[in-house]
Amino acid sequence: MGEFLVDLFSLQGRTAVVTGATSGIGRAIAVALGRAGARVVALGRRDDALAAVVAELRDAGDDAEGFSCDLADRAQLRRAAERAAEPFGEPDILVTSAGVNLRPPFDDLTDDEWDLTMAVNLDAPFLLGRRYGPAMADRGWGRIINLASQQTIRAFGNSGAYGVSKAGVAALTRSQAEAWSKNGVCCNAIAPGFVRTPMTAAVFEDPRRAEALAARTMIGRNGELSDFAGAAVFLAGPAAAYVTGQTLFVDGGFSVT
Ligand SMILES: NC(=O)c1ccc[n+]([C@@H]2O[C@H](COP(=O)([O-])OP(=O)(O)OC[C@H]3O[C@@H](n4cnc5c(N)ncnc54)[C@H](OP(=O)(O)O)[C@@H]3O)[C@@H](O)[C@H]2O)c1
Repeated sequence: MGEFLVDLFSLQGRTAVVTGATSGIGRAIAVALGRAGARVVALGRRDDALAAVVAELRDAGDDAEGFSCDLADRAQLRRAAERAAEPFGEPDILVTSAGVNLRPPFDDLTDDEWDLTMAVNLDAPFLLGRRYGPAMADRGWGRIINLASQQTIRAFGNSGAYGVSKAGVAALTRSQAEAWSKNGVCCNAIAPGFVRTPMTAAVFEDPRRAEALAARTMIGRNGELSDFAGAAVFLAGPAAAYVTGQTLFVDGGFSVT
């Protein structure tokens, strides 16, 4: 049994770069990949939060490093992408969880809000994928996991630029899969339901709204950070060798009601 599970899910010997690793879903995924055996390079903006996630990983016996970077700044992104490949070598796994959801009413959406949303949510996954994907393909093994959304497939509360960026993330994931799957690089997206994180704090402040959203799922509750560990470890590991180009909805059935 042990060996069977190791063959399917172990990330031993793999290196993962995780953006958005300082908070919420990205942090939970970074820790889960570490538990599954990966060396983890965490990217985020806040130094204290980076230090905390690196400490949590190391305390559990996992190799980890963290680098601070504003992914909306292309020069910083490029520098961070190079630095992230230094401690443990070129990554085998890339997770792009960094994201912003600004939610102005559509008529008030400014050029700057549009540009920032696209830069962090869509351009950064593209640029990081382009930096690491070809080298994964050359080595014959890789995994890319991008974070999509309900708004990949539907409008949902001032979707605005956010929904457009997340629809783009699913298309980017398919484009990456088309380019690199033949060489062992499986590229997929995870679409969360409604999960309590700093991003959704404002919505959770209205308990009736949070309860109404939970009631719209099939399972009857909103998402928890622990819901993402299994999906991420699966998509990052050997078991997902024939899964590519997909958007996996980890949403309690929200998207199919
Ligand atoms: N929570 C949900 O219900 C939900 C639902 C659907 C999809 N998602 C998606 O899941 C992903 C994670 O969301 P979350 O809820 O975990 O969000 P979160 O807790 O607010 O975390 C967002 C992360 O993105 C990073 N980030 C934001 N702007 C950045 C920038 N300019 N440069 C570098 N890093 C930046 C943050 O870094 P710092 O904190 O260090 O600034 C933080 O680590 C996002 O892509 C989001 O769109 C979330």
